[in-house]
Amino acid sequence: MIEVPPPYRSFASDNVAGAHPAVLEAVIAANEGSAAAYGDDPYTAECEARFEALFGRPVTVRLTFNGTGANVMAFAAMLGALRGPVHAVVCTEWSHAHMDEAGAPERILGAKLIDLPSADARLRPEDLDAVASLRSGPHHAPPGIVTITQPTELGTLYVPDEIAALCARAHELGLLVHLDGARIANAVAALGGDASALRAQTSEAGVDVMSFGGTKNGALGAEAVVVFTPELATGIDHVRKQVTQLASKTRFLAAQFNALLDDDRWIALGGHANRMAARLHELTHDIPGVRLDGPPQVNSLFPCLAPHMIEPLREWSFHWEWDSSRGQVRWMTAWDTTDDDLERFAAGVRAAAMALPHDDPA
Ligand SMILES: Cc1ncc(COP(=O)(O)O)c(C=O)c1O
Repeated sequence: MIEVPPPYRSFASDNVAGAHPAVLEAVIAANEGSAAAYGDDPYTAECEARFEALFGRPVTVRLTFNGTGANVMAFAAMLGALRGPVHAVVCTEWSHAHMDEAGAPERILGAKLIDLPSADARLRPEDLDAVASLRSGPHHAPPGIVTITQPTELGTLYVPDEIAALCARAHELGLLVHLDGARIANAVAALGGDASALRAQTSEAGVDVMSFGGTKNGALGAEAVVVFTPELATGIDHVRKQVTQLASKTRFLAAQFNALLDDDRWIALGGHANRMAARLHELTHDIPGVRLDGPPQVNSLFPCLAPHMIEPLREWSFHWEWDSSRGQVRWMTAWDTTDDDLERFAAGVRAAAMALPHDDPA
């Protein structure tokens, strides 16, 4: 039993957080009167203009309800443009598309996912060489797309030059590049904190299409597919409908992004979540029974805990086990995490550690 009060907010994920008040206000404001359906409305036009200003160049933006839908829609647009036999999507073994989408890309698109091993959830240019040889012969699904996640599912980051090198190699091999940016705000906040940091790791690095996250950043539920390579936008409206992501009341998705993109709020919120994770690291890294690597790069920590701590702590304030063979769990901060939440959570970790003589995780 942990005798200290649990934090108000959960550290289970960043999508357990509510919506930012500015997003709610924008949705309420967009509720005024009627607006054309299916994206032909002023809120969506404003949203598209905001994305173009952010990237400083023409882009095609289509809004979706969720991140799985954004990824599936992005792959569908890219696979459609490849126009060959069934193409495969190369990813890491940690990728959300592979681990956490219930096989949606395979089921909806008929595409095979090739999940490459990666200790830090990142791909390197040389990883692509191994799959390039799979292109020949009628027995194999030829790779057509590489998808990377920024920041990754393990809280690691690519620097822009690494993405550029990966894109260059992929393009040499005839592969298109997708970037899953469900938490792109956290990556941008960590790598410069402005629009140029966004461009450097996406459009200027050679990414063809990205999924741009809003939900974890403070939206009620809104994501965007941003297409940088114009040929891949051909037919995108049909693709979005076919993968069931066309919202009749698109204005409400657009209003959410308009609030997030206004005055770089999205970057400020991502930066706040990152700082909260750094502070949580400071508060917990030297507690006996907690083994943490260096400070986090973005908004997640993956501590290994002494065995006696894990269940009491998870019962007291739920969070996910990550690798039970190592006693590893995930703690994640969000745009709304407060100092008080951190203090309470750290007090619980300390109490769990002291419940029995500590057993340092191997
Ligand atoms: C890396 C990544 N991509 C995409 C998503 C989007 O998932 P959802 O379909 O739940 O919005 C998530 C959510 O956890 C994620 O972590």
